[in-house]
Amino acid sequence: MKKVAWLGLFLVGLLLLSACQGAVGPQGTQGPQGPTGPAGSPGPQGAQGPAGLAGTKPSAEELKALIAELLRGAPATVAQIARGGRLYDNWVKETKTTAPASNQPLWALQTTNTRTGTDTWRCKECHGWDYKGKGGAYSKGSHYTGFVGVYDASTSKSREQLVEILKGVTDYRHDFSKVLDAQSLTDLASFLSQSLINETPYIDYATKKPIGGNAAHGAQLYSSVCAACHGSDGKQLNFGSAAAPEYVGTVAADNPWEFIHKVRYGQPDTTMASGLMTGWSIQDVVDVLSHAQTLPK
Ligand code: HEC
Ligand code: HEC
Repeated sequence: MKKVAWLGLFLVGLLLLSACQGAVGPQGTQGPQGPTGPAGSPGPQGAQGPAGLAGTKPSAEELKALIAELLRGAPATVAQIARGGRLYDNWVKETKTTAPASNQPLWALQTTNTRTGTDTWRCKECHGWDYKGKGGAYSKGSHYTGFVGVYDASTSKSREQLVEILKGVTDYRHDFSKVLDAQSLTDLASFLSQSLINETPYIDYATKKPIGGNAAHGAQLYSSVCAACHGSDGKQLNFGSAAAPEYVGTVAADNPWEFIHKVRYGQPDTTMASGLMTGWSIQDVVDVLSHAQTLPK
């Protein structure tokens, strides 16, 4: 309910924004007239909306469809969400800066993950590629910290509240405002509140295999987008070393959550495509994962 209310605000904001700035793209088609509200109830503060909408209250489904349509016509907003995803991955690389020399202050609360330095400042290192922290893929292994995930907060907190968390309001040691500018904090919050998916239905955590992926469709998507940079066998770029090579097929097999994240948002500080920007659904991404798991490691 909170989320729906927020989505409504977001929608009105987008409408106002497009009204202020003039048409960015072609005007979207007018949605169908909503059902008339019960007599005498004008609807909450509908006055700012375009004429004719006052008093109608779109359902959650209608709102979702409208927002999806608006997002398709507003690439700048999707670009900011995708940037937020790359900041979550590695904000130091994405903003071309250096991390503070010391470990992130919260790092001292745990002893199980022995990494130091820049790694300790990455959102993903504490909260996981699957956004579930200690409740997800990082519940065991060398990345275990015992820290919470961000998925629950992304569904229950507003974008403003998420920005506050990144400014250290809930814990002063969680203040990233000294290392990231306001736009970056907003992009991170937009990424969290507008694009996170629950990956449990899509990946079998025990086998790391995708659930319900269509490898043939994934192969088509892969050759149309990814092969140009990674080669049709995924071996054109080596992310590892000559001795211990790492290819698209390696990441897909070893860390499907990282794979999904990188394919949706892109690789920090590179021109790698973002599935979100291309308009890929989560099913498309899972299909590409199915294909990528057949590539050489
Ligand atoms: C060093 C580990 C660490 C890093 C790095 C880190 N966090 Fe956190 N984060 C925590 C801990 C611990 C908490 C819980 C304590 C708190 O509420 O501040 C938390 C809480 C959160 C919450 C609220 C979760 C909830 O359920 O209330 C969000 C959202 C969040 N972090 C997002 C981020 C983002 C985005 C980044 C990257 C800019 C980031 N964190 C980087 C450790 C970290
Ligand atoms: C415009 C070129 C380009 C395109 C298109 C592209 N990538 Fe990438 N990708 C890169 C670059 C550059 C890197 C970083 C290489 C490095 O770090 O050495 C990368 C990194 C990766 C990584 C690994 C990152 C890591 O650090 O482990 C994966 C996985 C990946 N890409 C998958 C894909 C998939 C799947 C597609 C298609 C959806 C794709 N890429 C499309 C350029 C591209």
